[in-house]
Amino acid sequence: MKRQVLLLISLFGIISVTGQVSYSIPEELPKGSFVGDLAQDLGLDVKRLKSGKARIYVADSADYIELNREKGVLLVKDKIDRELLCAQTAPCALHLQVILENPMEFYSINVEIKDVNDNAPMFKRGEMQFRISESAVTGTAFLLEQAIDLDVGKNGLQSYMLKPTDNFALKLHNQADGSKMVEMVLQKPLDREQQSNLLLELTAVDGGEPQLSGAVQIHITVLDSNDNAPVFTQRTYKSTLRENSLSGMVVVTVSATDLDEGSNGKISYSVLNSVDDASDIFDIHGETGEVKLVGNADFEKKRQYQIYVRASDEGGLTDTTKIIVEILDTNDNEPAINVMSKSNVVAENIKPGTVVTIVNIQDLDAGENGKVNCDINKNVPFSVSSTSNNFFSITTDSDLDRERSSEYNITVTCSDEGVPSLSSSVTLTLQISDVNDNAPVFERSSYEAYIVENNTPGLSIFTVKATDADWNQNARVSYILEDSSINGVPVSSYVSVSADSGAIHAVRSFDFEQIKDFQFLVKAQDGGSPPLSSNVTVKILIQDQNDNPPQVLYPVQTGGSVVAEMVPRSADVGYLVTKVVAVDVDSGQNAWLSYKLQKATDRALFEVGLQNGEIRTVRQVTDKDAIKQRLAVIVEDNGQPSRSATVIVNVAVADSFPEVLSEFTDLIHDKEYNDNLTFYLVLALAVVSFLFITCVVVIISVKIYRWRQSRILYQSNLPVIPYYPPRYSDTLGTGTLQHVYNYEVCRTTDSRKSDCKFGRAGSQNVLIMDPSSTGTMQRIQSEKSILDEPDSPIEVGLF
Ligand SMILES: *[C@@H]1O[C@H](CO)[C@@H](O)[C@H](O)[C@H]1NC(C)=O
Ligand SMILES: *[C@@H]1O[C@H](CO)[C@@H](O)[C@H](O)[C@H]1NC(C)=O
Repeated sequence: MKRQVLLLISLFGIISVTGQVSYSIPEELPKGSFVGDLAQDLGLDVKRLKSGKARIYVADSADYIELNREKGVLLVKDKIDRELLCAQTAPCALHLQVILENPMEFYSINVEIKDVNDNAPMFKRGEMQFRISESAVTGTAFLLEQAIDLDVGKNGLQSYMLKPTDNFALKLHNQADGSKMVEMVLQKPLDREQQSNLLLELTAVDGGEPQLSGAVQIHITVLDSNDNAPVFTQRTYKSTLRENSLSGMVVVTVSATDLDEGSNGKISYSVLNSVDDASDIFDIHGETGEVKLVGNADFEKKRQYQIYVRASDEGGLTDTTKIIVEILDTNDNEPAINVMSKSNVVAENIKPGTVVTIVNIQDLDAGENGKVNCDINKNVPFSVSSTSNNFFSITTDSDLDRERSSEYNITVTCSDEGVPSLSSSVTLTLQISDVNDNAPVFERSSYEAYIVENNTPGLSIFTVKATDADWNQNARVSYILEDSSINGVPVSSYVSVSADSGAIHAVRSFDFEQIKDFQFLVKAQDGGSPPLSSNVTVKILIQDQNDNPPQVLYPVQTGGSVVAEMVPRSADVGYLVTKVVAVDVDSGQNAWLSYKLQKATDRALFEVGLQNGEIRTVRQVTDKDAIKQRLAVIVEDNGQPSRSATVIVNVAVADSFPEVLSEFTDLIHDKEYNDNLTFYLVLALAVVSFLFITCVVVIISVKIYRWRQSRILYQSNLPVIPYYPPRYSDTLGTGTLQHVYNYEVCRTTDSRKSDCKFGRAGSQNVLIMDPSSTGTMQRIQSEKSILDEPDSPIEVGLF
């Protein structure tokens, strides 16, 4: 491979440069390799070389080329490494001088060392490390370490390749020195969450033949950035919770995830609600997402809660979700009872079935827990029924009567259908108002009262009383004397009735001897509207007072004349001389007369029958007894105090009238007067007696007929009471006195019999009318019951 470029002959003194030869050899030739045929190229003979002791001179130490003088060729003396020799300098040449002596000749020889691709591109470090945030934007360039290729030229570093090229691309920049700066440019954003580590390979290649390459690994760690928000696992959570659950109960657990790592992925939970009270009732654990009950969930307040929960990472990204908590009802509310009516008074006359009040029931619970039924206590005449939703009416079952029960306690008990059931009750007190449905009622069906005659006018006799079961005004009783007349005189002139008190007052003084009893009606009237009234019969009985002394009917006490009873001297013991007849217009005890001998000429001769007033002799009359006997008989009634009358009875003890006359001469001067008087008396007595007997006969005829029919009954009632007429016995038995009528004289002479003698003023000759033959006392009583009639024509008046 001879390359003769230039032949330079230089003359440096004795050294002349005759020519210059260039050779070119590749590096790395083995030792002894042929470089060039120097002799030929210089045009020298081999012999000259020998003779000239041709030798190679190198200035520096490098001694890679030797000269074979025998052949006149240059050979490789030592293996040449161009990179060692010239490094990156190109071209690389060895500069040799061949020096010949005899004559000194000087030749310059250039041996160019041509590069051989014996070096691959090479990176200094085995790998490259990068930490790149995933948030790095595209276009971001990362400078890479350059590779080195010791070869030059075409064999030097030519280009780079990067694999894979998903995210990055290579970009080369030519430098002024010809080297290439290499950059890795982000083409597609990194995602740590997809790939947190990337391994790339950068390959550098040269242009040699064959091509050589060197590679380096690029480790890229993708750094996290908070590019992911937390995400809840559910958009909505649902849960149920029984009301009144204990605080601390976990209602639901929410969960969110964050793809980021570290603090960017650290999630904390919080409740967002601020308006409603959900945040007071529920709390969420910041880290675990457990939602707990912290307050009281009350179904009656709120049936559903919506809790908004936020999850946030520490980078500030968030997500929210909604929790719907349904509150389930428990039977925790008893029914509330509201009484609708304001008034608690009803009239007693309302009809059965009338609504007296309405109650409203509120149970806050739902479903069965809020379904309510009401009942009332059994012992009242009311019933309860449901009218409409939540309203119950209380109606009367039967008639009310304020007088039986003026108020009712109605206990309404309402219970729901929950399990267990809750109930509540309320007691209404219902007042029954009065209606005037009761008339006054007198305490007795009739009244009898007694008043002693000769009373003072205005005396209160007694009091009638009526009560009215109604109330207040309806029970205010007024007493009214009903108009009537007694014997043609208005009753109001006898008695008056106090309207307020019912006290009955006598208006006048009564005289038993004129009126023995009377009756009238008193009306009691209440103050209702309209008023109700009732009446009662009041019978007033006037009681006798011993206000009349006995009156002696016989013997007649005349002022002037002398009446004498004749007693024959032959009279036996017990001879009935005469009989003192007296009457007392009073009645009863007051009219029961007794006779006593008060004074006598000869007390031993006469006695007076205590009961009958009969004057009888008690011993044989003797001649010694005076003709003129004077007896004072005192007639006493049995009243308290008793009243009395005294009668003087003249008795003549003589066998003949002249005998008597001589003794009574002092009385003769009155004879003429007495004759006249006697005539009138006899006439009057005869008329009266006739009338009386006629009447008695008529009455007896009638009575006998009746008496016969009821004889047995009468006999069974025969009283056995000494001295007293049976009517007196009766009156003693009852403590009250029966009426005794008229001026009768009724005296018993015997316990079993009685005489009823109607004394008549008459002549001395007619001593006694004695109807004793008519029968028993009962018989007489029968007669008397007719005779007793006030208006009886048989009435025998005082003469
Ligand atoms: C009703 O209740 C009241 C108060 O408890 C009581 O005083 C009254 O006697 C009761 N009435 C009836 C009729 O039971
Ligand atoms: C008295 O009451 C009776 C019923 O009790 C009645 O028949 C009579 O008419 C009443 N008499 C008077 C005068 O009011």
